[in-house]
Amino acid sequence: MCMISGTGIRFAYEADGRLKRVLRDLDIQIQRGEFAVVLGANGSGKSTLVKHFNALLPLQKGELTVAGINAAGRSDIWRLRRVCGMVFQNPDNQFVSSVVEEDVAFGLENYEVPREQIPDRVRKALRLVGMEGYENRSPHSLSGGQKQRVALAGVLALEPDIVILDEVTAMLDPQGRQEVLESVRRLHEQEKKTVVMITHYIEEAVLADRVFLLGDGVLQACGTPREILTDPQLLDKAGLTPPLPVKIYYDLYKTGIRLDRIPLTNEELVEELCQLN
Ligand SMILES: Nc1ncnc2c1ncn2[C@@H]1O[C@H](COP(=O)(O)OP(=O)(O)O)[C@@H](O)[C@H]1O
Ligand SMILES: [Mg+2]
Repeated sequence: MCMISGTGIRFAYEADGRLKRVLRDLDIQIQRGEFAVVLGANGSGKSTLVKHFNALLPLQKGELTVAGINAAGRSDIWRLRRVCGMVFQNPDNQFVSSVVEEDVAFGLENYEVPREQIPDRVRKALRLVGMEGYENRSPHSLSGGQKQRVALAGVLALEPDIVILDEVTAMLDPQGRQEVLESVRRLHEQEKKTVVMITHYIEEAVLADRVFLLGDGVLQACGTPREILTDPQLLDKAGLTPPLPVKIYYDLYKTGIRLDRIPLTNEELVEELCQLN
């Protein structure tokens, strides 16, 4: 079943009295429970697109249904934001309280969830992101990866159907990235959430069920990570370079060394290399 279904989405920003067209009749369909990764060069419109999913940007033209809610209907905005939560890039911009548990509870209070349910919901959300035990800490005393996981907990406490992650690992160190990706993986696998993740680390796209490639304001391609990430020409057209193991495959190919398959990860590359004698 379709969780997100958009057709003919068109969007332009107005800046200095001029229109800047970003999305040009874009069609997109994301299934319930799917882990979708959106790839595209800087400025290709990834954030613009996903901001339509929870009505942070109004639809200018086209049709968009998210979790059965018409995203063009302004009266449903709050319901839409509750079923479609979003975490952003900057871990320092997402806190409203100086205590972790109050911060995670904030959305619940806003949505008038009955008081007696709040502590349980907060605990469950913090457990999901591996941050139980940090309830009384100040968000500002946490590492970047921990901050992003608390921000994610704030979204999860609302029990959304869809979680959107807009470059949430971009400002993190490698350990923080791993922690956050692990939480995201758990969300998808254990909690069966629909996940839409934008990333500019192309290696992270390997985690996806399907990769959506954005370029020139439309969807250039969508397919499994293997289909999209092993196609250097397709990626190049979208202004991206393939993951390192894929590049190494083609570099070896040019020197006459043929691996049996194109490796997507370092582990696969090592396996393939070990089979050369
Ligand atoms: N508020 C805005 N006003 C005017 N132009 C914008 C605004 N936000 C983004 N843009 C422009 O729209 C294009 C797409 O931006 P964005 O969706 O943020 O791309 P991405 O997330 O893929 O990097 C870029 O050229 C960007 O400069
Ligand atoms: Mg962006």
